[in-house]
Amino acid sequence: MCGIVGYIGNQQAEPILMDCLARLEYRGYDSSGVAVRENDKSNDIKIYKDAVRVSVLQKQSPHFNGSTGIAHTRWATHGPPSLLNAHPHLDCTGRFAVVHNGVITNYQELKRQLIKEGHNIVSETDTEVIPHLIEKFYKGNLEEAVKLTAALLIGSYAIIVLCKDEPKLVVAKMGSPLVIGIKDCEKFIASDTPAIINYTNKVVYLEDGDFGVITEDRVVITRNGEEIHREEKKVNWCKEDAQKTGYDHFMIKEIHEQPKVIRDMILEDALSDSKLTIGEDVQSLKIIACGTSYNAGLIGEYIIEELLGIPTTVVFGSEFNHRRAIFPNEAIVITQSGETADVLSAMKTMQNAGVKMLAITNVPGSTASRLSDRTIYTRAGPEISVAATKSFIAQLISLYQLVLLHPDVDNNIREQLVTELKDLPTKVEKLFDLEPQIIECAKYIAQCKDAFYVGRGINFPIALEGALKLKEVSYIHAEGYAAGELKHGPFALLNKGVPVIAIVAQDGNHESMLISIKEIKTRDAYVIALADEEDDSIDSSIDVVLRIPHTHALLSPVLHIIPLQLLAYYTAKLMSCSIDFPRNLAKSVTVE
Ligand code: F6R
Repeated sequence: MCGIVGYIGNQQAEPILMDCLARLEYRGYDSSGVAVRENDKSNDIKIYKDAVRVSVLQKQSPHFNGSTGIAHTRWATHGPPSLLNAHPHLDCTGRFAVVHNGVITNYQELKRQLIKEGHNIVSETDTEVIPHLIEKFYKGNLEEAVKLTAALLIGSYAIIVLCKDEPKLVVAKMGSPLVIGIKDCEKFIASDTPAIINYTNKVVYLEDGDFGVITEDRVVITRNGEEIHREEKKVNWCKEDAQKTGYDHFMIKEIHEQPKVIRDMILEDALSDSKLTIGEDVQSLKIIACGTSYNAGLIGEYIIEELLGIPTTVVFGSEFNHRRAIFPNEAIVITQSGETADVLSAMKTMQNAGVKMLAITNVPGSTASRLSDRTIYTRAGPEISVAATKSFIAQLISLYQLVLLHPDVDNNIREQLVTELKDLPTKVEKLFDLEPQIIECAKYIAQCKDAFYVGRGINFPIALEGALKLKEVSYIHAEGYAAGELKHGPFALLNKGVPVIAIVAQDGNHESMLISIKEIKTRDAYVIALADEEDDSIDSSIDVVLRIPHTHALLSPVLHIIPLQLLAYYTAKLMSCSIDFPRNLAKSVTVE
């Protein structure tokens, strides 16, 4: 779970590398480093790295004079965060520097052999074997040495190699993402597109098994020894998408972008591509996802069963290969990044079993989109905050759309839902009027140790997602429960003043939610209820009522999650937490 970048062009490399790297911190941020090939006669590789975040690296690093370089932001997997374990890694001679994202599973064996041959390996990482292997194989042709090296590596990698003797960058990809940004006499390489959209929106996505030789004005991609053409794609993201544009944090910026995301996604044409739905003869479905995307999947399960009657199960990507796989006719894979290793490994298993897959992903060209048969691209734009917000909403909208495109949906319900979907952006905007009241709730929660979220039916996953958001960014212990489950155990945890956030939707579960709240209040808990603006049955004993605009019950999760995202954000802000980059978390979890 690391981020890598490279630059070759006619500008000073270091500031560009630092800028790109800062935009990749969501992939990891326990160490960082940069290496530049000096623009003087020596062409020496100058390197600066430490167990620090990019902002600190930027301040501490001496300014190198060179227009070719590589950089890395690390999330430790092999060896703790330290100067020696930070990337870039060098060979014995200092002629080759390498940044790597992925895991080399056979590194111990390679390391033993290299040490036997006299190589001086100084770190505990799996990566360091790579520059030493390149050193061993180099006979005046960097590309050849990288290919010979890659042939020995088992595991996953995206690597960028810098060489003192050759004015180029060589890249190789297997299992970890790598994108090349193209601009006249400059080329940018990165793990993810958001890192480089400040500079170019023309990109080439590499595939597993590709090698690239990149100079200022050319990108040559080879595969199995043959030169191949990879199409240049235009990314519809703009610079501002990867900037805070006046907000304190990406998380709050992205929460506020949600009305626009919904508007962009419910364009007229989105409801007409009948290929992007579930097959008509499908008897059973599985939805595969992790984390927040899993919670979106639970809502998908609910609407698919409710509106189509197709038996559906949601499976964590991380569990799929750890139990007997009963393969469905079709699977829906939900992944913001399209790079979550657990999800990809489930996809590979399903691919081998011939299961048809529809991916819902936010990242064009991502591995999930390439492994699937069909892809719905959510139009959330780049999501930088580690805690997912706008991508969750975009996943929900995609799920509604794919269900509504199915011919078995009752026409009346389809019409109602399409009309209501179009009203959602305005209703979400109205929710932002609740911010002062939510900040007051955040002040209460910020001084608590635990918080509980309860919902029923289609809003049970919203209780899970609300709790996930709070624990991720504020580090307060939070649990989401199906309201009826409280009495089967968790009631033991309720005592005076414990905050319970209850989602009281105007649906068939309304009465039973009110009963659950009464039981919770009896234990003297502090109840914050999310209730429909038209709901006049809310008891005066409830401590805080957040009024939610009315919508169709099946769409209510979209409106309920937003106050809970805001609650998590403001609680974390009051507690001065590292909101966009919470401890121990990275946005794309590219290791299993
Ligand atoms: C939570 C969060 C994570 C991701 C999970 C899956 O806010 O962002 O739980 O949802 O790591 O990531 P994707 O959707 O990229 O597969």
